Amino acid sequence: MKPESNPRHFLSLMDFSPDELRQLIDRAIELKRKHYAGEPHTPLQGKVLGMIFEKSSTRTRVSFEAGMAQLGGAAMFLSPRDTQLGRGEPIEDTARVLSRMVDCIMIRTFDHATVETFAANSRVPVINGLTDRCHPCQLLADMQTYIEHRGEIRGKTVAWVGDGNNMCHSYIGAAKQFDFRLRIACPEGYDPDPTILAMGRDRCEIVRDPNAAVAGSDLVVTDTWISMGQEEEKAKRERAFAGYCVDRAMMDLAAADALFLHCLPAYRGKEVSADVLDAADSVVWDEAENRMHAQKALLEFLVN
Ligand code: CP
Ligand code: NVA
Repeated sequence: MKPESNPRHFLSLMDFSPDELRQLIDRAIELKRKHYAGEPHTPLQGKVLGMIFEKSSTRTRVSFEAGMAQLGGAAMFLSPRDTQLGRGEPIEDTARVLSRMVDCIMIRTFDHATVETFAANSRVPVINGLTDRCHPCQLLADMQTYIEHRGEIRGKTVAWVGDGNNMCHSYIGAAKQFDFRLRIACPEGYDPDPTILAMGRDRCEIVRDPNAAVAGSDLVVTDTWISMGQEEEKAKRERAFAGYCVDRAMMDLAAADALFLHCLPAYRGKEVSADVLDAADSVVWDEAENRMHAQKALLEFLVN
């Protein structure tokens, strides 16, 4: 196999141009149509995706694995527990070795620098499957879901309610790349990273009051208050985020045709009430499914 000297990576939404991202969404919608119509589409025959998971996952693992199988390729699950990564083999060496054997690598890890180091040493495209900094694959699915239900998101207003976490950071990137306004309602002390916020400054604002953020919004989004790795802060975080639960009264302040998204897993009665999560304006199950269609479009783009 001819080694690729300078592969494209997808470590954050900023690695792709707005046009490329928008085309990926259109392609995801087309691949979804093909899938529903039962039309085989197997451009990745003989290709292998390596998937390194240093954190838990349901959706990311299953969507990548099922997606690769549907595209005619194969996916391999690698955990630090049973690879030499867990025994201290450097990430650089792991990247050099794996990228001589597989055609694309997805990594879910803690420190964002790990995926950057991996990519810098990889001959093949590297995909960020979530770091403490961002979760760009989820945003492909979220944008696809909004566009499928309501049309273009450009010029719309999105309310982010809750933690200024990795998902919030990716919404800031999406506000820039997909050109929408983002109101971020987070309690003091839980703001997004100031450098990321500065990057999206012209489209994003911090609004402390969640009701004010949601009022008139076209899309309301939240996420767990306790991200993976923050389990020890559970009690402190639950106190800090009291009042930030997206409930029916809050959702009723949004635009009449507003949608609700949540990357899942969701904690009913914490960041979202059960009646919001399970209501008709909540499209979280389409959003979860779209992980697979959007990532198939991404794999097709990066690997072929
Ligand atoms: N939304 C998401 O990434 O889910 P998993 O943690 O289950 O992969
Ligand atoms: N913010 C959450 C997202 C999970 C998909 C976390 O990092 O755990």
